[in-house]
Amino acid sequence: MDANPLLRQVLDQIDGPDPRVNELVSALVSHLHAFVEEVRPTPEEWLAGISFLVETGRMCTPDRNEFILVSDMLGLTSAVDDVNHVGPANMTPSSVEGPFHSPAPVRELGDWVSDGPERERGVPTVVHGRVFDCDGTPLAGASVEVWQASDAGLYDSQDDAQELGNLRGVFTADDDGRYWFRTIRPSSYPVPTDGTGGVLLRGIGRHPMRPAHLHYRVAAEGHRPLVTHVFLAGDPYLGSDAAYAVKEELVRRPRARTEGWGMEVPYEEIEFDVNLVPVGWKEGA
Ligand SMILES: [Fe+2]
Repeated sequence: MDANPLLRQVLDQIDGPDPRVNELVSALVSHLHAFVEEVRPTPEEWLAGISFLVETGRMCTPDRNEFILVSDMLGLTSAVDDVNHVGPANMTPSSVEGPFHSPAPVRELGDWVSDGPERERGVPTVVHGRVFDCDGTPLAGASVEVWQASDAGLYDSQDDAQELGNLRGVFTADDDGRYWFRTIRPSSYPVPTDGTGGVLLRGIGRHPMRPAHLHYRVAAEGHRPLVTHVFLAGDPYLGSDAAYAVKEELVRRPRARTEGWGMEVPYEEIEFDVNLVPVGWKEGA
C-alpha cells in the first residue's frame, strides 16, 4: 500500500509540457509533504508560514529582494551556488554575489578604489594577485571587478557620504595576469533586519553579521566567469556568517607592511590569486 496516497495523487497529476518543471515541482512537493508528516504543523502554524511568505513579498521593491535575503539566511543561496560550480580541485571556489553588486568604474592597476571619507579613517590596504587558468597559465587581460563595504560596514548605495562607484572598480590584469589596487580594509556588517529576514534570524537565534570581505567577479576569455569573495582572517564572524558564504580557501590574513606598492604610510597587504575554470571543463576529461 502507498504510504502516502495523497502525495501519490498530487504527483500523478503533475504532467506539464516542460519535463524539468515537472521534476522540480514533484521533488518540492514530495519534500514538503514529508515536512508536514514529520512536524505535523497546526493550521495556525501553517497560516503563520504563509503569512511570513506574504510579508516577505510585501518587503520586495525594485531595489530590495527579501526572498533572496531569506534564501541567504537559510544557506540555500550558497547551496545552489555550490551545485552549479564544480571544477578541478585547484579552482578558486565561488561564493554568493550578494545584493550589493552595481556598475563599477573602470580603473587603472594600482588605483585607489576608496575616494570617500573612509579613506581618512580606514586601514590603508593593498590588494594584489594573479589570475590563472587551473593549469597554471597566467590569463593576460583578465577582468577583475571588485566591490566592498567601507570601514563602517556600508556600501556606496547605503551611505550618503559615499559617491556611487566608491569602493568599486573594474581592473584589467597585465600580461602576467597580475592585478593590484589600493583601498581601505572593509568591515564586517549586518544584513538588513527590518524585514522578514530579521524576523527569521531573531526567531532562530542567529546574529545578522557577515564577516569582513571583498567581492570579486573575475572573467577571462575561454573561462567560466567567477563570482566570489575574499574574507579576512581573524574576523570574529568567519565561523557564523549570516549568509553561510565562507569557504576556507577564500580566507586571507592581511600582512602588516611599511613599504612597497608606492605606499607612504603603514598599510596591510592582501594577496589573492584566482584560478578560473576553462569553459567546457568536464570531470575526468
Ligand atoms: Fe558584501
